[in-house]
Amino acid sequence: PTLTMRLNGVGLRLRPQGFFQTNTAVTEGLYATAAAWVAEAGLPAAAWDLYCGVGGFAFHLARAGVRDVWGMESSAEAVAAARETAAELGLADRARFSAGDATSALSFEKRRAPEALSFEKRRPRPDAVVVNPPRRGIGAELADALEDSGVPTVLYSSCNPATLAQDLARMPSYRVTRVQVFDMFPQTRHAEVLTLLTRR
Ligand SMILES: C[S@@+](CC[C@H](N)C(=O)[O-])C[C@H]1O[C@@H](n2cnc3c(N)ncnc32)[C@H](O)[C@@H]1O
Repeated sequence: PTLTMRLNGVGLRLRPQGFFQTNTAVTEGLYATAAAWVAEAGLPAAAWDLYCGVGGFAFHLARAGVRDVWGMESSAEAVAAARETAAELGLADRARFSAGDATSALSFEKRRAPEALSFEKRRPRPDAVVVNPPRRGIGAELADALEDSGVPTVLYSSCNPATLAQDLARMPSYRVTRVQVFDMFPQTRHAEVLTLLTRR
């Protein structure tokens, strides 16, 4: 069973094992703001959406004009849903998705041999990376890989300010240039925080 949820006119597919942001109206604002900030920072040719779920950030970036987006997500169901959306929007060649561990996505890039797998060969290196991890944050491996990556723009969407702060402390090459709080979980003390990081 699949439920199509329209966010800013993008039909995202909700399936039993796929994560979906809890507050649809607030999420529309989150995705639209992320796309606007990325466009303002200088529209990248290639962007990665790590912890992409069913692809909300990826599709909004593609629609804003990012030529290639690549999403990575541990739930195979969510990846299948994102691929269906890409096909429906006619974006299958610009928005691609893989199931896997996002924490090693950039370290793998560093280690890969030139003769790596065909998809990996075609996957453009990113000029912008979106990360939207669970409460535990992105952790040391991905934070260190981003720090070393040279990627000019990172968007970090976090539901836990404590792990956001920990992760940012490991990435001193980035300056926080914009922050916005989204009231994703009204009447609780929790909120979503979107942060735009620009390489110094
Ligand atoms: C906060 S949700 C964000 C999903 C998506 N960005 C969105 O806007 O709906 C975090 C996502 O990370 C996925 N996830 C958890 N650990 C992961 C890992 N190590 N690698 C890739 N994805 C992971 C979860 O399945 C979940 O879909």
